[in-house]
Amino acid sequence: MEVKTSLLDNMIGVGDMVLLEPLSEDSFLENLQKRFDHNEIYTYIGSVVISMNPYRSLPIFTPDKVEEYRNRNFYELSPHIYALADEAYRSLRDQDKDQCILITGESGAGKTEASKLVMSYVAAVCGKGQEVNKVKEQLLQSNPVLEAFGNAKTVRNDNSSRFGKYMDIEFDFKGDPLGGVISNYLLEKSRVVKQPRGERNFHVFYQLLSGASDDTLRKLKLDRDFSKYNYLSLDSAAVNGLDDAANFRTVRNAMQIVGFMEDEVQSVLELVAAVLKLGNIEFKPESRCNGTDESRIKDKNDLKEMCELLGIEQSVLERAFSYRTVEAKMEKVSTTLNVAQAYYARDALAKNLYSRLFSWLVTRINESIKAQTKTRHKVMGVLDIYGFEIFEDNSFEQFIINYCNEKLQQIFIELTLREEQEEYVREGIEWTNIEYFNNAIICDLIENNQNGILAMLDEECLRPGTVTDETFLDKLNTVCAEHQHFESRLSKNSKFLTDHSLPHNCFRIQHYAGKVLYRVEGFVDKNNDLLYRDLSQAMYKANHSLIKQLFPEGNPAKVNLKRPPTAGFQFRASVGTLMKNLQTKNPNYIRCIKPNDKKASHIFTDSLVRHQVRYLGLMENVRVRRAGYAFRQAYEPCLERYKMLCKRTWPHWRGPAREGVEVLMTDLQVPAEEFSYGRSKIFIRNPRTLFFLEERRRQCLEDLATLIQKIYRGWKCRTQFLLLKKSQVTVAAWYRRYAQQKKYKRIKSATTVVQSYTRGWQARKLLRELKYQKRCEEAVTTIAAFWHGTQARRELRRLKEEARRKHAVAVIWAYWQGLKVRREYRKFFRANAGKKIYDFTIQRIIQKYFLNLKSTMPSMSPIDKNWPTRPYLFLDGVHTDLRRIFHLWRCKKYRSQFTEEKKAVYEEKLEASEIFKDKKALYPSSVSQPFKGDYLEISKNPKYQKLNSAVDEKVLLADVVNKINRANGKGTARIFLLTKKSVVLADQKTGQVKASVPLPDLSSVSVSTQTDGFFALRLKEGSASAVKGDFLLSSEHLIEIITKLHRVGATTADMEQLNVDISDEFLVQFKQDKVCVKFIQGVPKNGNSVSCKRKNNRLLEVSVPTTP
Ligand SMILES: Nc1ncnc2c1ncn2[C@@H]1O[C@H](COP(=O)(O)OP(=O)(O)OP(=O)(O)O)[C@@H](O)[C@H]1O
Ligand SMILES: [Mg+2]
Repeated sequence: MEVKTSLLDNMIGVGDMVLLEPLSEDSFLENLQKRFDHNEIYTYIGSVVISMNPYRSLPIFTPDKVEEYRNRNFYELSPHIYALADEAYRSLRDQDKDQCILITGESGAGKTEASKLVMSYVAAVCGKGQEVNKVKEQLLQSNPVLEAFGNAKTVRNDNSSRFGKYMDIEFDFKGDPLGGVISNYLLEKSRVVKQPRGERNFHVFYQLLSGASDDTLRKLKLDRDFSKYNYLSLDSAAVNGLDDAANFRTVRNAMQIVGFMEDEVQSVLELVAAVLKLGNIEFKPESRCNGTDESRIKDKNDLKEMCELLGIEQSVLERAFSYRTVEAKMEKVSTTLNVAQAYYARDALAKNLYSRLFSWLVTRINESIKAQTKTRHKVMGVLDIYGFEIFEDNSFEQFIINYCNEKLQQIFIELTLREEQEEYVREGIEWTNIEYFNNAIICDLIENNQNGILAMLDEECLRPGTVTDETFLDKLNTVCAEHQHFESRLSKNSKFLTDHSLPHNCFRIQHYAGKVLYRVEGFVDKNNDLLYRDLSQAMYKANHSLIKQLFPEGNPAKVNLKRPPTAGFQFRASVGTLMKNLQTKNPNYIRCIKPNDKKASHIFTDSLVRHQVRYLGLMENVRVRRAGYAFRQAYEPCLERYKMLCKRTWPHWRGPAREGVEVLMTDLQVPAEEFSYGRSKIFIRNPRTLFFLEERRRQCLEDLATLIQKIYRGWKCRTQFLLLKKSQVTVAAWYRRYAQQKKYKRIKSATTVVQSYTRGWQARKLLRELKYQKRCEEAVTTIAAFWHGTQARRELRRLKEEARRKHAVAVIWAYWQGLKVRREYRKFFRANAGKKIYDFTIQRIIQKYFLNLKSTMPSMSPIDKNWPTRPYLFLDGVHTDLRRIFHLWRCKKYRSQFTEEKKAVYEEKLEASEIFKDKKALYPSSVSQPFKGDYLEISKNPKYQKLNSAVDEKVLLADVVNKINRANGKGTARIFLLTKKSVVLADQKTGQVKASVPLPDLSSVSVSTQTDGFFALRLKEGSASAVKGDFLLSSEHLIEIITKLHRVGATTADMEQLNVDISDEFLVQFKQDKVCVKFIQGVPKNGNSVSCKRKNNRLLEVSVPTTP
């Protein structure tokens, strides 16, 4: 059988411990060291990766390396954590199996680094795209945030995880990350208030003080100097190779990427600052009169600043540090706290504040990174839990941490050692059992519900009466005395009575990874994890959104007297859930080993590594692997996967799957020792055999792919060819059609041309013939015409000749007759011939005159002055008479067309002419103006409605006139109304009647001879109207007004004819005085056409422009 050699062959030492020969602990360690010395930090045990911490950066985590390991078989390249990550990722993506990466090892062995490498590898190889990249970035950036708050420098590790972390990364069916969920396990919060020598508090405190800007520190009321804070240990504040300031910037940046709001970051920093401030609050004792000790705060400045930071009322917190209220059965009892209790309360608050902040951070990160879609996810879980640790002084936290590690070891044993061996037995494979240490017994010691240490601790915590750490130890001494992994000086087991390495207040557990001595001090308290209610209530009252959220139990409305579950109980429950979760996934192991205790590179401390190899059970792991089979698979999927390697099984095997696999293996000539047939699975001993199968499968798949490709290409080409052919036929048909159409059109046009030429030729021929015919006809006609003309002229000549002759005969005959008559009547003719000739001539002349006159008659217009000239003097009288008669006749004709109104108008005009013509210079300009009468349209205009109704008679004339004021000669506008009975003067604006003069009261009217419109209405002396005196008025329509007045006078029975005086000087009676109005010609001032001026009491002078 030819097998392609794997890269495992050319390795430093042996890359896979399964291939180690001979196998012993020494050779195992030798191999590890050899590889470690050559920077080969990864070694396999089958599919398990052993990782040695190099304590320096190696060039094996570059993007090139990622590419190298991408999509490669696990054993194809030298051992690497990337190979494991790739294997896990691909089986998640391609086989839809949820994965978990279990990273174990003691503190400082490199678990956290390993988990980050796995995550970064997966991030690098999975899909890309804007959204995917954002998810990846958020998942990766959650690490620095959690490390800042949850990691600290310990003696074993400068970046030791002080909390357990399990992160589920969720992928879609394509293998693109969708989001993640982080679970955290019990933060070692005691570190907040106290750190063992050589260790530090959590990184974030140092990062904040070193990295925050001065401005931020001022806002947080902090000082950069670490030594100012009681909670910060000073002997190891600065750690080599750790740049706190730079890390602070990284953390802030990471928080931003993860999606923290600016105000959330600020709140978080305020809480961190508050914890530091809290540590600085100190108490002093003060004795009270009843003899009890009470505590007082020494310096309230820190308290004040902390309260300001968190928005807490200082007095509330101060009281919470001095008193403790216990509530029982509706009763509240307040007791004072002594100094020790006050310090206890302060530290409890600091620890709670910090641990709750940490849990909030995890929740907040989860909110940001949770998958948005609701579709089923594939999950890859990465577990990075605090490593097994043995300190000088081990307390509750170490107990919990080591219990967690026991559980992980348990799951490793379960899945790799026990499960595997049990499977061989189940499947009926021949198998010699391999002994290994099963730590289930230790797990039972700790977690057993009846008598486990955690159960005892809980029982003790909940028990009424005095409970101390000592009573707890007593209980353990009784209950666990017989347990082979429990050791205590005072236990019932007498063999430890003399063991001086066991102090009285301690108990020791033989963990899978070694013996650990736990000091019971603080166990009860830490398990109780109680915070005085006064403190939680004080915190709830804080005017700070985050603090309020962190202490919900402080809400007085939700007072819960029930005890919260203990820390141990909670941890046990969450570890239980975690284990269940891990068991549902396909495990991938990374077992981290710490090469030395000095955190130094290149040092391989044999004893230390040997110890780890032992307790991690690596030798057993190799033995099981070697004795067993590297690979197993149920018959159905195996046949399904490899059936293409054998003609008989390809493409379908009709019989049972197992027989199919047997046929396959026989056909492939795999040596019998390389595999075994189990009941439901085939077991393959050597990875090489598997590689061989895989390689053959790959080749075969290539062939199959080629075949599929070939058939597909053939099909595609055929389809394309057929399509082309079909297209070609269509194109050809269309082309032929087009060509034929074109040819047809060409022939058709040629035919048309030929036809048109022929027709043209025929037409021209016909035309020629017709023209010839026509010419002939014309010629004939012309000849005929000429001939007839000649004939006619000849005939005419003859007829004329004949007529002339006849006429001549008649004339001659008449002359002859005349001559005869004259000779006969000569004697009568001579007596009255003169008179007859004269009468005849006169008659002829008059006849001609009338005929001429008829044709030269002028038009019917009465103003047409034309008349034909007289032809003979003797007709002069007749001619003049005819002209007059004609003029009268046509005037009559013209008049007969007039209507009655028009007649009246003309009568008025005539009367005006009679009154004014040649007497007043204004008259000519009035001739062409028609007499309108009612200029104001008094009956229609609503403005004059009142005035109209005041006048009974029909209004003959309505106009606006100027009433001349005697005092200054100025005019005032007045409405002038003339009816048949009276003259009315009214106000122009209001229409109110000012004066009404009955016509009989008028004696005369005086006007000038000039072009002005002045007129004086003179009243009869002694009449009723004469009291006020005469009216001197001026109007543009003077001629019309006077004419109308005159006419009314003529037609009214009881009135005398009105006199019209026309003179340039007349007297006007104004009340008592007579004033002379004189008209002179001159240039009136102010550009007015006419101006009136009072010269003296008796004279008004009116200047009228000179008449041109
Ligand atoms: N692959 C590696 N390459 C370089 N240095 C490493 C590597 N793995 C670990 N280290 C170094 O070892 C230190 C401790 O590693 P890490 O924090 O991962 O230990 P851990 O197992 O998580 O310990 P703990 O249980 O205390 O959290 C790291 O800070 C780093 O300096
Ligand atoms: Mg860690």
